[in-house]
Amino acid sequence: MEPKDIAKLELPEDVMRQYGHSIVDMIVDHNLNQHKKLPVAQATRSEMDSVFLEEAPEKGTEVMQVLDFVMQQVVPYSNIMSHPKFYSFVPGPSNYVSAMADALATGFNIFSGGWAAAPAAAELEIVTINWLLKIFGLPAKRGGGIFTSGGSMANLTALVTARSIKCGEDFSKAVIYLSDQAHSSNIKAIHVLGFKKEQIRIIPTDIEFKFAINKLKNAINKDCLEGLQPFCLIASAGTTNTGTVDPLSELAAICKKEKLWFHIDGAYGGAAILAKAGKKILKGMEKADSITVDPHKWFYQPYEMGCLLVRNHKWLSGTFTEKPEYLKDVEGNPSEINFYDHGIQLTRRFRALKFYMSVKTFGLKAFREAVEYNFALAEKTEALLRKSPKWEVVSPATLAVINFRYNPIDKKLTEDEIDDLNRMISKKVVESREAMLVTTYLNGMVVLRMCLINPRTTLDDVRDTINLCEKFAVA
Ligand SMILES: Cc1ncc(COP(=O)(O)O)c(C=O)c1O
Repeated sequence: MEPKDIAKLELPEDVMRQYGHSIVDMIVDHNLNQHKKLPVAQATRSEMDSVFLEEAPEKGTEVMQVLDFVMQQVVPYSNIMSHPKFYSFVPGPSNYVSAMADALATGFNIFSGGWAAAPAAAELEIVTINWLLKIFGLPAKRGGGIFTSGGSMANLTALVTARSIKCGEDFSKAVIYLSDQAHSSNIKAIHVLGFKKEQIRIIPTDIEFKFAINKLKNAINKDCLEGLQPFCLIASAGTTNTGTVDPLSELAAICKKEKLWFHIDGAYGGAAILAKAGKKILKGMEKADSITVDPHKWFYQPYEMGCLLVRNHKWLSGTFTEKPEYLKDVEGNPSEINFYDHGIQLTRRFRALKFYMSVKTFGLKAFREAVEYNFALAEKTEALLRKSPKWEVVSPATLAVINFRYNPIDKKLTEDEIDDLNRMISKKVVESREAMLVTTYLNGMVVLRMCLINPRTTLDDVRDTINLCEKFAVA
């Protein structure tokens, strides 16, 4: 390599092509063969240190050699979130078109902050946000939104907006309500925003893990009587633990009556609206002031892509617009949205492109069918478990999440023994690296949790995994 090339951080054309083609080949191979690999990666800090720890090298290394090293030492030490037997947390099924769209967006380094920098990128964000507004039943003309790095950032952006619109500058008396099953990113956002503990009401859930409405009403009443300012309620449209959807219509009515901002965290379950059954369960979403959805989950997009939708786009611009002198020349007219005025980031990657290209390529119908498939698979899994005398379904298939535990009826185990057994099963499954299946707690019970949002997971995959669990249970 010529020194002048290195100084510009460039590669010769033939090397660039070979390098890029090799990477594409590797990604395609991975897409074709990932199901034959083990989904779980394991390594200790000291093992990783022994491979990677070094001073930043002054001298470069041959480009293909660095790539080989990464393919041998980095990629295999990452869980395969898109593997058919990756059931835990929220899997990331992703899709190839979007992965390539990300490569395009990065390869051209498109700046998706303001209209003037990339009008088409801003337009595509407007267009795809409009698609989502329509899907979720928010007003198409007045509504708005923004793509974020993920659900956590979307929730944070929502709460900043809610606070600004409902409280203005003074939020000293403001109170926010969420259930004990709301995702931790909401509490994190509330803390980031500087609310004190006394301003947060964590409302217990009922037997189905839904917001306990009466307890919520009591809490709001009490706060009003004490001269506080109830200002926002966060509902879940698909809790991470059980896929449970809060009673959205009832909560919407309470918010309307009490003048609360109604935020729905649909990061996990929002995409279920694409399935017929999901649409029914998610009735009431259209009444939200703001909705978090997370395309890098169940809209099958690669990381990172979250999204915040709002009923009125002016709420975002009213909250986030700053007018520094160095951006004056590129302000443009109000119809030409500068997304840096709709959220926290100024410099933003072009996230809309992957959503756009994948929906254009496959069609929304394919997405609907994939979500329908996920619903059906979770229901079949539930039926499979219910048929067996060894398994107990603790929380039924809801939005493609199911919680269950090993509890053979003939064994008459104590609760502690069942907990230990299920912890042990999960540990052994994960150690085997054959499947990713971790536990969670429900009503004080240790349960196994399967999140079945990967359209490549088959009932045979599930059967294999259940058999693996049973093998470890008796070992
Ligand atoms: C309901 C819910 N909200 C928010 C989040 C946070 O989203 P992200 O991990 O994309 O930041 C998650 C993640 O699992 C979630 O399930």
